[in-house]
Amino acid sequence: MGNGVLENLYHVAIAVRNIDEVEKLYETALGLRVEHREVVEDQGVRTSMLVPEKGGTALELLEPLSGESPISKFLDKRGEGIHHICFLVDDIEAALDRLKRDGVKLIDETPRPGSYHSRVAFIHPKAMNGVLIELAELDKDV
Ligand code: CO
Repeated sequence: MGNGVLENLYHVAIAVRNIDEVEKLYETALGLRVEHREVVEDQGVRTSMLVPEKGGTALELLEPLSGESPISKFLDKRGEGIHHICFLVDDIEAALDRLKRDGVKLIDETPRPGSYHSRVAFIHPKAMNGVLIELAELDKDV
């Protein structure tokens, strides 16, 4: 059990219309490497994690699975671009408890399944100066 403190910036997520095209572009133009691809049904998205050669913060590409996906709605309204940033936490329940105690408006009161066997929760962007912030706790056993 941890105390819910934020660790490092895990990824910056970008909403895109065609994940294959963007992967190719970011690989060739930026020299990033695709580390992991996954469909997260719960969030209605295909995801791809791209990392710099020497590691560090990743880029997470998000492509909607259908018109019902929140990412699809984001693309219609705002177009492609940065969607959220994600911090790792050592204990997501403790982090959410602390935020609730502080009266911070949350999208997720309890964690839900994310990619990489993680559990994630989003803070409401209205509570964070217009930035959608995701907290992720990685499964220590994977
Ligand atoms: Co994310």
